[in-house]
Amino acid sequence: MADTDAVKEAKKFYEDIPMKTPGFFLKGAGSLDWGMKNRLARIFNPDSGRTVMLAIDHGYFQGPTTGLERVDLNIVPLMPMADALMLTRGILRTTVPPALTKPIVMRCSGGPSILKELSNEELAVDIEDAIRMNVSAVTLQVFIGGEHETRSVHNMTRLVDMGMRYGIPTMAVTAVGKTMTRDAQYFRLACRICAELGVQFVKTYYCPEGFETVTASCPVPIVMAGGKKLPELEALTMAYNAIQRGASGVDMGRNIFQSEAPKAMMQAIHKVVHKNMKPEDAHDLYLTLKGKELKKGARHAEPAAV
Ligand code: R5P
Repeated sequence: MADTDAVKEAKKFYEDIPMKTPGFFLKGAGSLDWGMKNRLARIFNPDSGRTVMLAIDHGYFQGPTTGLERVDLNIVPLMPMADALMLTRGILRTTVPPALTKPIVMRCSGGPSILKELSNEELAVDIEDAIRMNVSAVTLQVFIGGEHETRSVHNMTRLVDMGMRYGIPTMAVTAVGKTMTRDAQYFRLACRICAELGVQFVKTYYCPEGFETVTASCPVPIVMAGGKKLPELEALTMAYNAIQRGASGVDMGRNIFQSEAPKAMMQAIHKVVHKNMKPEDAHDLYLTLKGKELKKGARHAEPAAV
């Protein structure tokens, strides 16, 4: 029906209120397109600007890691407590209930097992399959200084290009070879290379000396990698220090699922990341929640449905 003058007069145009042009909360993401921003806002909480990711992708190169032997029994019940999940397409398709609406960060590199040279990776997922599975980001390992450095960097730039085509962010994981020094100088180099070559966020390890220079010199958000299992207070302290020194979240695996009380640990980490809770207070919370969790019984007795 044609709009008549009379009807037009009755409409509200709010001519005196200019339309807002809001910015975007995440570092380095201001110029990205809507789909990229929307996916990043599913991974990073727009209120805190941070994320607690649960990493369970270990099987892609080391098989059934301790704590991940039965993802259906021991990990699926934890999933609703994470802000995002980092996993392989195999576990996603076989084991994660499709009704779970948590954002997925899908591992897209692979090749060598722990029996071989780990930097010899290739891209191992077609972007179409990632789209089919409705992922919020794709991810791969980047081996700066590794034997196959150029190949892994090239894998990354190809994944970034494919992601850009469809509005899917890429997270680079800076792999640390056995012989490489885990210091700020190395992490500054690795993170900056990944950001310069186009990834939208980086997962890297914490280093006690100069971590703030790693986050400051990286123009995209950094999430802290967990690493091998530590006593809970140490893991919470490491997460706290990383956040206070500029990390935009954590992506932890073994320090959560190998904990005696993974749900309690997850809740304590949430407080550290989103509420700046001090590590000692978060540890007290962990101990209280752990008591309740262990009272409820064995983890695998819990229902796997979400
Ligand atoms: C490999 O280096 C991976 O990124 C992992 O499989 C995983 O994400 C490591 O998590 P975490 O060290 O916290 O157990």
